[in-house]
Amino acid sequence: IGDLLVDRFGRVHRSLRISVTDRCNLRCFYCMPEFGAEFAARETLLTFEEIQRIADVLTSRCGIRDIRLTGGEPLVRKDLPRLVEMLASIDALDDLSLTTNGILLEQFAEPLRRAGLKRLNISIDTLDEVNFQKVSRRSGIDQVIRGIDAAIATGFETIKLNTTAVKGVTESEIISLVKFAMQRNVQIRFIEFMPLDTDRSWRTENVLSGETIGAMIERAFGPLVPVPPPSASQPASDFRLPGGHSIGLIQSVTKPFCDACDRIRLTADGAIRNCLFSQQEFSIRDLLRGGLHDDELVEQFRRAVAAKAAGHGIDDGDFAPPERPMYSIGG
Ligand code: GTP
Ligand code: 5AD
Ligand code: SF4
Repeated sequence: IGDLLVDRFGRVHRSLRISVTDRCNLRCFYCMPEFGAEFAARETLLTFEEIQRIADVLTSRCGIRDIRLTGGEPLVRKDLPRLVEMLASIDALDDLSLTTNGILLEQFAEPLRRAGLKRLNISIDTLDEVNFQKVSRRSGIDQVIRGIDAAIATGFETIKLNTTAVKGVTESEIISLVKFAMQRNVQIRFIEFMPLDTDRSWRTENVLSGETIGAMIERAFGPLVPVPPPSASQPASDFRLPGGHSIGLIQSVTKPFCDACDRIRLTADGAIRNCLFSQQEFSIRDLLRGGLHDDELVEQFRRAVAAKAAGHGIDDGDFAPPERPMYSIGG
């Protein structure tokens, strides 16, 4: 109890998001540059053994209950199912999940499930190859769809689709995307564009708001009925369509959910971040490699959580995006 990760606002941190690589096989404009992305040097990436140690200590002593693996694209990290297997063996862990762009999923769905992964969130912003190339600047929508279908066939506990709605590009596809999710009986969640892109092209005016998306869906399908969230800290607000299908809106920009935030993050190169938008981070890589004691490891996490701000402050006059873009922080 004494080691729980509680911040100045009383938020207890139960969820750890671990980025396993900053590399990616796509170049989505809301995250990466089209050319010349800079990646962490291989030797700076935490090893699976280092990640497992952190996960062991945080679950056994600090009340961390959920781990989500992110990237970059986590499936480009060599041998990822081995890490999943290592983490799945931690008794104190309630949930182990992964967020992926789906490109490599056809090949990895089975091995991930066998390794003990419970839940999978898969990004799909469009169903159209031309739009896919506009957003992701690579080709591959067919591959993503095959990945989604392979994952569904494999039988994970939950699969959700994540769609970052792009004004003027994929706006026209929202209804088809909802239908796509309905046909597969999975939830789709629409995410507002946040100022985490490398190109710094984010402007308030470019955000397609959850409210606008909700209204579009209501026009096509009928009234959306709010559903109480299974967990108070989940970023998505859930709604039911007539007929019962559930969709979600992740309104990070227009309706921040920071009050209920229970997440901390670990970057692929071993820095603790208390928020996607924090200006400060706490690197533990060299300390780990210098042989730090478990007590000191806990102390580093407590220090990082103690420094957490109330919220992201995107609307504040003096808001500045974090130095690291999304791919380098971890999604
Ligand atoms: P569930 O456990 O299924 O609810 O996962 P999740 O929604 O937390 O994870 P996922 O990686 O699928 O995240 C979906 C989107 O939510 C991300 O792309 C982000 O846009 C947003 N998101 C996730 N975590 C945070 C966060 O801590 N802060 C903010 N502002 N947005 C977040
Ligand atoms: N704003 C909102 N969502 C983003 N994602 C990546 N960058 C951004 C951003 N700037 C989303 C991706 C994917 C998830 C991992 O993060 O679309 O669904
Ligand atoms: Fe948590 Fe920061 Fe995301 Fe808000 S913006 S929900 S505080 S990580």
